Amino acid sequence: TKLAVFASGTGTNFVAIADAITANQLDAEIKVLVVDKINAPVVTRAKERNIPIFHLKYKDYDTKELAEASLVTELNKYQIELIALAGFMRIITPTLLAAYPNKIINIHPSLLPAFPGRHGIDDAFTAKVPQTGVTIHYVDSGIDSGSVIAQQVVPIEQTDTLVSLEAKIHAVEHVLYPTTLAQLINHN
Ligand code: GRF
Repeated sequence: TKLAVFASGTGTNFVAIADAITANQLDAEIKVLVVDKINAPVVTRAKERNIPIFHLKYKDYDTKELAEASLVTELNKYQIELIALAGFMRIITPTLLAAYPNKIINIHPSLLPAFPGRHGIDDAFTAKVPQTGVTIHYVDSGIDSGSVIAQQVVPIEQTDTLVSLEAKIHAVEHVLYPTTLAQLINHN
């Protein structure tokens, strides 16, 4: 399966997906990494692996729809079949959604619908809920609102700090994302 990964940040989930492919745990190929920030550390992770990078410079376009139209053209060159958002901090518009219906998925560090948005881990910790977790879901035009594909619970212990909780969540992410992608790919 020809995969595009979209990311804006550190890229630990990008690395987890790439490593699962290398380990033959995921029958896919990352054809392109799409970033909105060329200085993001994930760009280095892609270069190390000789994965092409497409920098979508939203500000070069009059509208977000036009930016996404150029992105669709780029993705078509690679015949992309599945898009995995991994810390991509932008809302996807109907332009891209229509080009890839039910083919765009995202990972979010909470048990959705609880704690959507940018601070899923922090918000759950501050709310003192007994458990949080990780969600993989289809992307729609809302914020972390599409239908759920997979979830894994992470209990919040009395002894947890925000830092320890973040570490637990990320460790779960790095297993759940590649395994969920593998399930999706194998069932198609
Ligand atoms: C992850 O926590 C993911 O759930 C969220 O953004 C973070 C990305 O981390 N959407 P990384 O760039 O993959 O390290």
